[in-house]
Amino acid sequence: MSEMLLVLDEGTTSTRAMLFDRSGACRGSHAEMLTQHYPQPGWVEHDAAEIWDKTLQCARRMVDHAGGVDRIAAIGISNQRETVVFWDRETGEPLAPAIVWQDRRAAPLCRSLRTAGEEGAVQARTGLLLDPYFSGPKIAWAMQEWPQLAEAGERLAIGTVESWLVWKLTGGLHVTDATNASRTAMMALGSGSWDDGLLSMFGVDRSMMPEIVDSAGQFGTTDVLGGTLPICSIVGDQQAAAIGQSCLDKGDSKATYGTGAFVLTNSGTTPPRSRNRLLSTVAWQLGGKRSYALEGSIFVAGSLVKWLRDSVGMIESAEETEALARSVDDNGGVYCVPALSGIGAPWWEPEARGAISGLSFSATRAHIVRAALESIAHQTHDLMGVFAADGAAWSGLRIDGGMVANDWMAQDLSDLLDLPVERPRFAETTALGAAMLAGVGCGWFDDLYQASAMRGGVDMFEPQMVKSQRRKRLDGWQHAVQSVLGAAH
Ligand code: G3P
Repeated sequence: MSEMLLVLDEGTTSTRAMLFDRSGACRGSHAEMLTQHYPQPGWVEHDAAEIWDKTLQCARRMVDHAGGVDRIAAIGISNQRETVVFWDRETGEPLAPAIVWQDRRAAPLCRSLRTAGEEGAVQARTGLLLDPYFSGPKIAWAMQEWPQLAEAGERLAIGTVESWLVWKLTGGLHVTDATNASRTAMMALGSGSWDDGLLSMFGVDRSMMPEIVDSAGQFGTTDVLGGTLPICSIVGDQQAAAIGQSCLDKGDSKATYGTGAFVLTNSGTTPPRSRNRLLSTVAWQLGGKRSYALEGSIFVAGSLVKWLRDSVGMIESAEETEALARSVDDNGGVYCVPALSGIGAPWWEPEARGAISGLSFSATRAHIVRAALESIAHQTHDLMGVFAADGAAWSGLRIDGGMVANDWMAQDLSDLLDLPVERPRFAETTALGAAMLAGVGCGWFDDLYQASAMRGGVDMFEPQMVKSQRRKRLDGWQHAVQSVLGAAH
């Protein structure tokens, strides 16, 4: 009896396989860390072969754990978005490093396209901006700089990470789903098809790109796990988290604090238009019909804590940050603006660099760590203002991701936003969202509303901060962020 779904959740820092049963209970999980390559400042690469090997390793482990493929109804895939993979259709091997979403190498190219007045058209057609974050500029850079791509001619296949994984799992099916395609800056948001003008602007031939399909359905089967299994969902990880948080109705909002932090507000079935440099994106596509979301993308969240641990040596473990933040009464005037790979929404300044300001002899390690954690709530607060200005004010926020296990941080979010914050007890909402979609794709559920019964209980955080304290924090942050932006110009 096929009683479980196998989710492959391919994140930025790790790849994970998880098993879910029909009630949403997680029945097993295994993760492998991915090597991060930083060949130059601002560049971030992955090895696509490693992504595939580790995904396969995790998946095989979970199949064994389940007791064989017969116990599994379907596979669902969620993935880090925008990261691009280049491979050879004949050999199935990567032709170049994968350029990761955090990579800023296409900043000059974006700047010159902006100067040429192209941003308005890109935004109108795709809901995105001209920023090196998106796949199109990364591909344009690679086509200019890596001769092996042009030399591969018709053998060249390009795709985001889910596309690469489906190709490898199925032995040659070249597809992407609309949520992932909507992050390339080459898909027309309204039609859900590749836009010829944008493909040509980024130097991409349509034949190199995957076919855009629904986020749930029967996409093909894989035989690499010891039997035949259907792939029934493909979805970008942030959209998956929104689904896993049951953000199924217009206005429902979630924030996922992983490597970066990504806030999505469901906008219903009409593509939203931001006047404040938020992104319009596909939330999911089912039966050829798209639901949309407004998104605010924060580039540095959990990666800041990782940086404090691994590069600066200020902490030994991420868990330590909670006790350190609690050990001082306030930030002591210290602010941290974590623009370690530029700064995303709503500022979009790829050349910005991080800063720790307000230091005095009374500042301690605890103040700096606290300021680092506070920067998460501050960046979210900046987004809250622009969502409201775009007519999508939040009445509460559903939070998830590795960082929000930190109760102090969850409370700080509620305090600074002055909003109720809801945290699910089961933290892996990204994988849960991919499982919900796979449950729809394989016929377990009629729709996402039915599938949302898989979501479990939540903990609530209510605002407790006094107004004057909030004002002081917000003023201090504004001062710090404006200095960082000023230095980047
Ligand atoms: O847009 C980038 C995003 O998909 C990365 O997600 O979970 O690896 O921080 P994550």
